[in-house]
Amino acid sequence: MNRYAFLILPSHNRVYADAAPTLARAELAVLSAALPDGRIEAESVAETAIGGVPYVTFAASELSQRDVGLLANLSSLYALFEAAGPAGAGAGGLAGELLRPVPLRRLDRFDDDLLTILKYPGKTNEQFTKLLLNVTLASSAFARELETRRLSVLDPLCGRGTTLNQAVMYGFDALGADIDARDVEAYAVFVQRWLKDKRLKHQADFSPVRRDRKVVARRLTAEFAATKDEYKAGDVQRLEVVEADTTRVGEFFRPASADLVVTDLPYGVQHGSHASHGTGHSPGRAGGERSRDGGRTLARSPLELLRAAAPAWARALRPGGAAGIAWNTRVARREDAAEVLAAAGLVVLDDGPYRAFRHRVDQAITRDILIARKPAS
Ligand SMILES: C[S@@+](CC[C@H](N)C(=O)[O-])C[C@H]1O[C@@H](n2cnc3c(N)ncnc32)[C@H](O)[C@@H]1O
Repeated sequence: MNRYAFLILPSHNRVYADAAPTLARAELAVLSAALPDGRIEAESVAETAIGGVPYVTFAASELSQRDVGLLANLSSLYALFEAAGPAGAGAGGLAGELLRPVPLRRLDRFDDDLLTILKYPGKTNEQFTKLLLNVTLASSAFARELETRRLSVLDPLCGRGTTLNQAVMYGFDALGADIDARDVEAYAVFVQRWLKDKRLKHQADFSPVRRDRKVVARRLTAEFAATKDEYKAGDVQRLEVVEADTTRVGEFFRPASADLVVTDLPYGVQHGSHASHGTGHSPGRAGGERSRDGGRTLARSPLELLRAAAPAWARALRPGGAAGIAWNTRVARREDAAEVLAAAGLVVLDDGPYRAFRHRVDQAITRDILIARKPAS
C-alpha cells in the first residue's frame, strides 16, 4: 500500500465552508470505485493536518498513470502528493515524511475561462457542477471508456450552461434543454462569441425548429474541435441546446443518446428571497417559481417537475449510463426524489458515500445529490 495526500483547492473551502473536507472525501470514495487499475482503501480516507495544513489522506495500491489521470479531475483537488518513505506514526502515517508531488494530467481541453466568464444570478457553482458530473460519471458504466470514445452529457434543465461547459471542458458532447428563452439565448450568444474569441474551428447556428410550418422550439447547434487537425479529421465535439420544456427532451434527443444526465433542479425559492455568499447559488434566481420568461411563471414544484420529466430523461439515457441530480432538500425530501427516479426505471445508489453529499448553500437552500443508474440492458 502506498500513502497519498491531497491539498483541497482553497476556493472549495469558500464554496462549502465546513462541508468541504466531507464532500472531498465522499467524491474521492465514489471516484475510487471507478479507478481503472488501482484501489483506494475506503477506511483509510481521512482528513489529516500535516504541518498545520489540512489534507485529505488515503492509502492505495500503487496508482497507475490512468488512475492518477482520473483522480486529477477531482473537483476539490489542488495538488496530489505521494509519501516517499515507510509509514510513520500519526497524521495518517504521513507525519515527518517527504511528500513527493504527483504530476497531474487533467482532462481539461480548453482554458478555464470557459467555465468562469459567464456570470449571472442563479448560476450553479462551477466546482459543485464539476463534482456532480464527476460523481455521475464514476457511477456509470462508462468511466473506463474515457480514453476510447467521446462521452455525451445531457442537462435537461441547463440554464446558461454550467454543466454543458464542464462537459465541453472534458471533451464530451453536450446536450441541453431549458424552458427559459433568455437563458438559452444568452448561452447561444456566449458560445458563439467564445468559439470566435478562442479562434477554434467551428460551425454554429441558433435558429427556430419548425414542424408543419410552426416554430416548435429554438435550437443552438455547434460543432468544434480543440485543434485544426481534429476539426479537419471530423473529430469534433457537438453541442446542442433546445429552448423547450424538459418533458419534451424526447422530441429533440434520440432515446439512449446521452451517456449521462446531469442536472440541477429548480431550487424552489422565490426571487430575491435568499442572499448570495458566493456559495453556490447566486441571488435573484428562483429555479422554479420566478418569472423569467416573458412574465410566464414556471408552474411546477421541483418534485412535480422531476416526476413529470424523469421518464423522458431516463429514456434519453443509454443503458449503463447514470443520472445525477442536485436539488434543495428544503422543498423536496430525498426519499421522494429517490422514489421518482426509481419509478422511472433507474436504480438509485443510496449507500455509503452517496449519502454524504448533503450541504448547506444558504439559509434557504440545503443541497443534496442523488445518483441513479440505468440498468445495462
Ligand atoms: C437551478 S436552474 C439550473 C441552473 C444551471 N445549472 C446554470 O448554472 O445556469 C434550473 C433551471 O430549470 C429551468 N426550468 C424550470 N422548469 C423547466 C421546465 N419545465 N423545462 C425546462 N427547463 C425548466 C429554469 O429555467 C432554470 O434554468
